[in-house]
Amino acid sequence: MSTSPIWPDRNSRSAELYERARKVLPGGISRLQTLVDPFPIYAGRGEGATIVDVDGTHRLDMMNNFASLIHGHARSEVIDAATRAARHGSCFAMPTEAEIALAELLCDRVKSVEKVRFCNSGTEAVMLALKAARAHTGRARIAKIEGAYHGMYDYAEVSLDSSPENWGNDPNSVRFTAGSPRAVLDDTVVFPHNNTEAAERILRDAGESLAAILIDPAPGVFGMIPMTPEFVSMIQRVARDIGASIIIDEVIALRLGYHGAQAKFGIEPDYTTFAKIIGGGFPVGAVAGSETAMAVFSHAQGKPLNPSSGTFTANPVSMSAGLATMELMTPEAYAALDALGEHARMVAARAFQATGVKGQVTGVGGMFAIHLHERPITDYRSAYPVGNEAARGKALHLALLEAGFIMSPKLSAFLSTAMTTNDIDRFGAALETILRSQM
Ligand SMILES: Cc1ncc(COP(=O)(O)O)c(C=O)c1O
Repeated sequence: MSTSPIWPDRNSRSAELYERARKVLPGGISRLQTLVDPFPIYAGRGEGATIVDVDGTHRLDMMNNFASLIHGHARSEVIDAATRAARHGSCFAMPTEAEIALAELLCDRVKSVEKVRFCNSGTEAVMLALKAARAHTGRARIAKIEGAYHGMYDYAEVSLDSSPENWGNDPNSVRFTAGSPRAVLDDTVVFPHNNTEAAERILRDAGESLAAILIDPAPGVFGMIPMTPEFVSMIQRVARDIGASIIIDEVIALRLGYHGAQAKFGIEPDYTTFAKIIGGGFPVGAVAGSETAMAVFSHAQGKPLNPSSGTFTANPVSMSAGLATMELMTPEAYAALDALGEHARMVAARAFQATGVKGQVTGVGGMFAIHLHERPITDYRSAYPVGNEAARGKALHLALLEAGFIMSPKLSAFLSTAMTTNDIDRFGAALETILRSQM
């Protein structure tokens, strides 16, 4: 079996598949994030920390389907649980015991969570949480962090890719999708990550028009820069004063702590969104919160204030795989993943020091990101690549793929319990070689 990469070989099976795909899929793909120039690498199979592509090339998977595979690929306990469930019927227009068990686990682990409503993705979870906060407060507007990714709901994607040409001084609400209604921009307030003074002023200006303040304690797209304690206490204080709900997006951040990222960061949210790891590699999402906050989903008084449903919601395959995954995430497993992340940040930073290439490594827990500049990073704007940094980032991403290491196109990594320090050391050595010879 070949371990030497043959991508991007125009005669490869990946190239052939891409040609076929372009005839039936817009741009040849189903997910924008899977696109890599000149053509995507097609996965053949996953084995623990490794993806073997359709041409037989092995690569270390440091992306793990954008943080959803916390135990890597095809972990036996997870696949056994999913297979057992599927054998008994993959979905029903009836509840199953599996959804109760996964909800119980989340309620046991995360202090603010007393009730859970499942759905099918992180996008849906964020949409449902925002709608729940609106139903709960009787207000329409929401506030979000500039540049933070929360999925594809119109309001949540405002100012996702704003640029120096349109971002303004205090963040403008910038359209992400063409044709998104003006009303969406008017109803979405954008504030800067970790800039306590500016964010407080912006949030207080919006005041009682706000239903919710949507936060991620370490937003992935600009390098998982953790919220400062000062910023967290400002959010808590302002939300209380203006009567807005706090929604913490733990779609990725749940991988930061056994009791949730909220326990680690001292955040007391009204609503929490989950997805990714709680489905064990199968489609899932959830909104959770206190009994009072979640009452908007309940039909106890007649039609719920925030009705929610979905054909595949809480299907037993996702629920069972998710439960098996989360049961394997013991406090010890969280600690090991944190240590691996710490090691990866150290190894990557050492590669920059050793080669003298300008760059830095950010991140928290078992995730990290590489930036090809040395400006201090605190938020979306300070992480924003300038000059040829984006092009150099793309070149580094491709060079790593060719060397056998998969990071996201924006050079972020989400580690799994299937990885070892030896894997990370191999990555560090490859990074150093590439920086020295190609950057
Ligand atoms: C923080 C965060 N929220 C929400 C989402 C959307 O989740 P999904 O892709 O399951 O819709 C993502 C996806 O990467 C995310 O990272």
